[in-house]
Amino acid sequence: MLKGVTVALGVTGGIAAYKACEVCSSLVKLGAKVNVIMTKNATEFVRPLTFEVLSNNPVTYDMWERKREWEVEHVSIAQSADVIVVAPATANLIGKLANGVCDDMLTTTIMASNAPVVICPAMNVVMYENPILQENVEKLKKRGYIFVEPEEGRLACGAVGRGRLAPPEHIVQETIKVLGGADYANKKVLITAGGTSERIDGVRYITNRSSGKMGACIARSAMRRGAEVILVVGNVTADMPKGAKIIRVESTEDMYKAVMDNLSDVDIVIKSAAPADYKVLNPTNKKIKDEKVCLELTKNVDIAREVGKVKGDKKLVIFAAETENLLDYAKSKLVSKNADMVVANDVTREGAGFNHDTNDVVIIHKGGREVSSGLVQKSQVAEMILDELKLEW
Ligand SMILES: Cc1cc2nc3c(=O)[nH]c(=O)nc-3n(C[C@H](O)[C@H](O)[C@H](O)COP(=O)(O)O)c2cc1C
Repeated sequence: MLKGVTVALGVTGGIAAYKACEVCSSLVKLGAKVNVIMTKNATEFVRPLTFEVLSNNPVTYDMWERKREWEVEHVSIAQSADVIVVAPATANLIGKLANGVCDDMLTTTIMASNAPVVICPAMNVVMYENPILQENVEKLKKRGYIFVEPEEGRLACGAVGRGRLAPPEHIVQETIKVLGGADYANKKVLITAGGTSERIDGVRYITNRSSGKMGACIARSAMRRGAEVILVVGNVTADMPKGAKIIRVESTEDMYKAVMDNLSDVDIVIKSAAPADYKVLNPTNKKIKDEKVCLELTKNVDIAREVGKVKGDKKLVIFAAETENLLDYAKSKLVSKNADMVVANDVTREGAGFNHDTNDVVIIHKGGREVSSGLVQKSQVAEMILDELKLEW
């Protein structure tokens, strides 16, 4: 259910730190990659080794420790996290976050991340009811931090009242909810990504600047939301997500065959690749040495159109990367290719289209609904596409 999801799990120095082992283990069992960050005080309660074994990943607790591979660690964990969960969260951690204090790896990572943060407080009832703590909680809630409230009961210190860490299974459920649930569970999605390459001769190709980033983001989001993903990948520079079935292709013809071979297995096709529209009419296997070369190009197969002809009740999302008359071209493609949705982007706009981490798109439904994303991260565009597509089910 959490295949393709990366969770940063923060563990702080409270008696409930041992319960974080169960949270870690459940997240891993559900398919998530878990990066555990412990505070120094948390290591007094549970040894990092325990989390290392449970997560099958190195545990971070010392900001100054130098790893074999150099990377700015608080930034890399912060950026790779789809969600940050802090369980248990001490009064100290909550106070630091509410006041912008970043004096260890956990607080620094949270500050450096745009991922949603789920805080699971656990402490003595008097500490929990302390107005300073409550003010800090309210401040963080206003900033969008999500709290999994502690339970009432007998606490480790012997007192009775609210302050006991929420049960690990509840923390995991809340995490799944924050991640958008598993609204694509039982869906099989075929996504195409990257550019295709058309051979000129034994060593040369025609291709385009498509990086595959948009397709990779859609694949990641779809897997995180429970889908099984087949990625048909051409020429890409972006990392393709683990957990997807990846089929590598070279030419547009290869991509067409891979899509058609897998079509009967899937519910949704999202065509975010940039297949070459033209191919060389007479490619040669030898390296061309002539002074002047004239390449004759011929039209390639139109994959989206062919899918549109036979898709039945499968959903088809196409992309229209245009340099002019964006909406007109996109709408006519939507009709001519029998698609359910078109994602239109003007690739001449700063920060949009090929090779950028950001994009600026208009999603148009076959029924006429139009939604603009504005200039946002491609990961956000991916979520929007999947949200909008649900309206077509
Ligand atoms: C045995 C023991 C248990 C503790 N349990 C808690 C707790 O459940 N919640 C809490 O907020 N603080 C608890 N504390 C206090 C924290 O460890 C202390 O505030 C520490 O500075 C927290 O550091 P950290 O937030 O960097 O992990 C406990 C301290 C000790 C010695």
